[in-house]
Amino acid sequence: MAKVLILSGAGISAESGISTFRDSDGLWEKHRVEDVCSAGCLDTNGDATRAFYDARREDIEFKEPNYAHKVIVELKHTYPNDIAVLTQNVDDLFEKAGMQRDEIVHLHGFLRELRCRACEEVFEIGYKKQNECFNAQCPECGGELRPNIVFFGEAAPLYASLTQALNECELIVIIGTSGNVLDVTYFAQLTDKSILNNLEPSDAIDDSYFTKVYYSKATEAIGDIAEYIEEFLA
Ligand code: APR
Repeated sequence: MAKVLILSGAGISAESGISTFRDSDGLWEKHRVEDVCSAGCLDTNGDATRAFYDARREDIEFKEPNYAHKVIVELKHTYPNDIAVLTQNVDDLFEKAGMQRDEIVHLHGFLRELRCRACEEVFEIGYKKQNECFNAQCPECGGELRPNIVFFGEAAPLYASLTQALNECELIVIIGTSGNVLDVTYFAQLTDKSILNNLEPSDAIDDSYFTKVYYSKATEAIGDIAEYIEEFLA
């Protein structure tokens, strides 16, 4: 049973040079969710949708994890059973910092993977373009491949892990999410203690429900947050 749940969003990767979604200059200012990240996009706008995720994959190839990713990986390795790490991010910066794939849950999918729309098999492709892999067909069944990303309007099967982690934890740590997709204010009300770290307040989060609030860069707040977690688990 993990007593601590660390749940991150795009803000934790911002200092590594990966764009967030809703900050000024964020991804959703340059692209329309309806065009490239909604249920049905693959059928109505397939080429542009695949190109969008090819570009995201290419973008992360040389991005490096920052201090916040590294501290969280270290904490997870020190307290493997006491800490659950879940992220909304589809990048691989936690993995680049040393996290094993089974030590973290990517709630919204993982850029380096494709999934077969027919048989649901998942394939790791690194940073390659989708159509450069497997002759653009599922190597298992010949079905159509797609980015292994959860689009708006689609089911997110790994939310079951989030529900379980929320039921088990006593301390929730939220880092770098605007709360527009996951209702982190509600999550804070479910747990004994809660920490929020964002660059700035978000209209979608009521920070009065949090035990501790840090409006600062993740790399600046993470030292204090790690100390709090270690004391909590002592
Ligand atoms: N340190 C900490 N927080 C930061 C930093 C930073 N250096 N930079 C930005 N932030 C915070 C912002 O203050 C904002 O609250 O990160 C948050 C980013 O919010 P969003 O862009 O909305 O990203 P996120 O909440 O992860 O989006 C959720 O929406 O588009 C979908 O599926 C996509 O997983 C994504 C989901």
